[in-house]
Amino acid sequence: MAGVTQKVTKSLRENISKKINVIPLKYFDSNNIGNILSRVTNDVDTIGQTLNQSVSTLISSVIMLFGVLIAMFVTNWQLALTAVLTVPLSFMLMMVIMKASQKYFKSQQKNLGELNGHIEEIYTGQNTVRAFNGEKKALNKFESINTQLQDSALKSQFLSGLMMPLMNFISNFGYIAIAVVCGALFVNNLIAIGSIATFFIYVRLFQNPLSQIAQAAGNLQSTAAASERVFEFLGEVEQSNEDHKTVKLEKVTGKVEFKDVKFGYDESRLIIKGFSATVKPGQKVAIVGPTGAGKTTMINLLMRFYELNSGEILIDIFLLVQ
Ligand SMILES: Nc1ncnc2c1ncn2[C@@H]1O[C@H](COP(=O)(O)OP(=O)(O)OP(=O)(O)O)[C@@H](O)[C@H]1O
Ligand SMILES: [Mg+2]
Repeated sequence: MAGVTQKVTKSLRENISKKINVIPLKYFDSNNIGNILSRVTNDVDTIGQTLNQSVSTLISSVIMLFGVLIAMFVTNWQLALTAVLTVPLSFMLMMVIMKASQKYFKSQQKNLGELNGHIEEIYTGQNTVRAFNGEKKALNKFESINTQLQDSALKSQFLSGLMMPLMNFISNFGYIAIAVVCGALFVNNLIAIGSIATFFIYVRLFQNPLSQIAQAAGNLQSTAAASERVFEFLGEVEQSNEDHKTVKLEKVTGKVEFKDVKFGYDESRLIIKGFSATVKPGQKVAIVGPTGAGKTTMINLLMRFYELNSGEILIDIFLLVQ
């Protein structure tokens, strides 16, 4: 299992790092770097750890469960049925708890990502934060995300921690039921004392894997919450592959033409509203304008970091952006 989970996490990381290279730049404008990093580190780690812990337990518990079940039915079917009666109850309880706690597991991973994002941003921007006296604001934001993380972690851990004791509680009812049925059978001379002793051992053996399954299920909830975030990232829209459209310019003269270019980072807010210009080969051009006028934006478009809303940019006569 250790090998398998290492392979799974390796392939997840590989896929993420490939994905980062084909995601449009726009994605990184609206998503904080630390949060993306947290998907690569925390979420993938969580998947690895919890898979490692729970899958092997799950496999051995299920095998144990069925093995003991067969042994019980072979020994005495009435008693076996009594023991099995508690199973649906246990699974129902498990479902209820899992359903209640899943949202906290989800927000735990989300808050962890946000916290990482904030930390990354503030550490990277140390100088700016200091220059603008932003320490207090940064700290407050940290505390607020951290409190949310604490809250969701506490709730998810509490609920999944309830699982084991509650399962034990239910299985003790099973134990009592078996004792009662055993008594009845014994009084009517339908069972030997040796079978009763054997059965009590079986019942304990039967209940152990049940509570282990419950615990593994709790672990798998973190896996589910973390994988959701990882696969959400892997499912993001990619840049269109335009290899087949690219033209290799052999002899470039260097004429650059913007034709009625319209562009906005937001669909709703145009920044460049129908810009046209021609730069002749060898000509030097200065782009002048107040801050926020769109100088850098023009260069971004020329580099094709973003797609145009309409219009075209031509190099020599070749279409660069459509
Ligand atoms: N990544 C982005 N996402 C959304 N809006 C952006 C983005 N980058 C720039 N803008 C907006 O686009 C407009 C043009 O910005 P741009 O950076 O091109 O200005 P600029 O002329 O280079 O300014 P400066 O002289 O300060 O460098 C501004 O209103 C800015 O807020
Ligand atoms: Mg600029």
